[in-house]
Order: sequence, then C-alpha cells, then structure tokens
Amino acid sequence: MTDRYCVFGHPVAHSKSPAIHAAFAAQTGQTMEYSAIEAPLDDFAGAWRRFVAEGGRGANVTVPFKEEAFRLCDTLSQRARRAGAVNTLILGGNGATYGDTTDGVGLVRDLKRAGVDLAGARLLVLGAGGAVRGVLEPLLAEAPANLVVANRTVEKAERLAADFRDLGEVAGGGFDAAAGPFDLVINGTSASLAGDLPPLPDDLFSEGATAYDMMYGAEPTVFLRWAAERGAHAVDGLGMLVEQAAESFFQWRGKRPDTAPVLEALRASL
Ligand code: ATR
Repeated sequence: MTDRYCVFGHPVAHSKSPAIHAAFAAQTGQTMEYSAIEAPLDDFAGAWRRFVAEGGRGANVTVPFKEEAFRLCDTLSQRARRAGAVNTLILGGNGATYGDTTDGVGLVRDLKRAGVDLAGARLLVLGAGGAVRGVLEPLLAEAPANLVVANRTVEKAERLAADFRDLGEVAGGGFDAAAGPFDLVINGTSASLAGDLPPLPDDLFSEGATAYDMMYGAEPTVFLRWAAERGAHAVDGLGMLVEQAAESFFQWRGKRPDTAPVLEALRASL
C-alpha cells in the first residue's frame, strides 16, 4: 500500500500543504500520497484513527485541531511539549503516535533565509495565542539578546513570558509597553486576518530591522505595509509555511527537500 499522509483542518479545502508535499515528493523521488482531510470538529481522534486504519503514516494538523492532536499523542518532542500543540503526527512502528511541532523551526529557517541574524538581536513578538506559543522555544534557542511578548490582553503576554523565562530574557506586556528599538518584530496575532493593525508605537524599528508577519497573502498585510513605511524590511509567512512543511516531510521520509523552488512556485501561484 502507498504510504499516506494528509493535513487535517476545518476548513481545509484551501490548504497549500498538498501542493507543497507533492512538490517535495517529486523532487526527492518519494512514492507517497498526501491529501487534505476535513476532520469533524467533535472527533479529531476518530479521524486520525480512521486515517491510520486506511494506511495513514503521518499527518499535518492545522486550525483548530493542534491542541487536540497534542492530547492524543503517546509521545511528544520537547518543543511540542513546550508549545502545548502539535502540527505533525507520526505513526511509530509499534502503532504509537508521536507528535512534533515544526512551526518554530520553520519560522527560524525562513528568518535565516531572509537574512535575519537572530543571535544577539532584540526581538518583539506581537500576540500571545497558540501561534506564538508554538514558536518561542526555537526563537529563544537562537540566543537573541532579549525577547518581548506584547499582546492586546496583557495578562496572556505576561503568563506566556513567564512560561519561557527559563530559556532566556523574556518579558511580557501590552502593545504600549513595547519600547523599541527592535531588530526583529514578528506579528503572530490574527489581527491581519481582519485587516487590523495592533496599536504600536511609531519608533519600533532599529536601523535595518525586519518586520515578519506569520500570515501571508497575495498582497502585503496591513502590518507589513505599516512596517515598510517605517523603513523595516518586510517579510510575510509564506516561507514559514514551506519550511515547516519541509521539516515535517523530513521527519516522515528522512529526506530534506530543496525549499527555494517550491517557495518560488507557491509565490507565483498566490
Ligand atoms: P492563534 O492560535 O492563531 O494564535 P489565538 O490563540 O486565538 O489564535 O490568538 C490570537 C492572537 O491574536 C491573540 O494574541 C489575540 O489577542 P488577545 O489575546 O488579546 O485576544 C490576537 N488578536 C486577534 N485579533 C486582534 C486584533 N484585532 N488586534 C490585536 N490583537 C489581536
């Protein structure tokens, strides 16, 4: 039977993961299938069990199932335990389910691709939801000078910062407490989805700073437009999507695809 993989989401029809993994498989000569499956909102575990029974070997997990996927895993990577969520499920030889999260390494690899030097950098991360929690450990592993988490709901930023303080100098607060300059500002809020901009101070960016939005689209997000007007180098999250997929692919197949042509093709298709 051909090894099967999928992305679980709800909704999931517009996911770019099937196209990305098909490109990786073609590039590395892997015989595998990868589809998009809309799991029922009330039975994610059942959807995974059924998929495994039909030859499923692994899956990506997207909104809104990342926390539920975390809970069904028999074993977890260290970074997934920190994130409290998984985006990658792997079926072990013994039938056990192993969970990992590749979002953070995906983000770090894409930042490096964009020429960002994280070591010693002053970092501001906007948002304190699951998307941000999922990337903090890999960001802190790059040894930034410090990292500030700013959020609309201040207590959430404070709690998140406290959870990661053992890994580096991490502070949490409201948007108004984000006193720059920062070398890198990452927007991990979902404000861009609604076309909103968090209320940020004007003097946020250092000379040569990068603004990164974990969202992407055919047009730059409101945040990236705002940042570019203030002189920052603006990068969207399409590369993070491709890099997190590449890391999942590596976990499943033991092959590292070349992400550059896949990102280029995906960009052209937006
Ligand atoms: P995700 O898993 O994508 O992180 P989430 O856990 O719902 O989703 O978190 C969404 C994040 O975007 C939160 O940090 C949220 O701020 P609150 O914690 O105050 O709710 C932030 N967010 C959403 N819409 C926003 C907006 N219009 N302006 C500023 N922040 C916003």
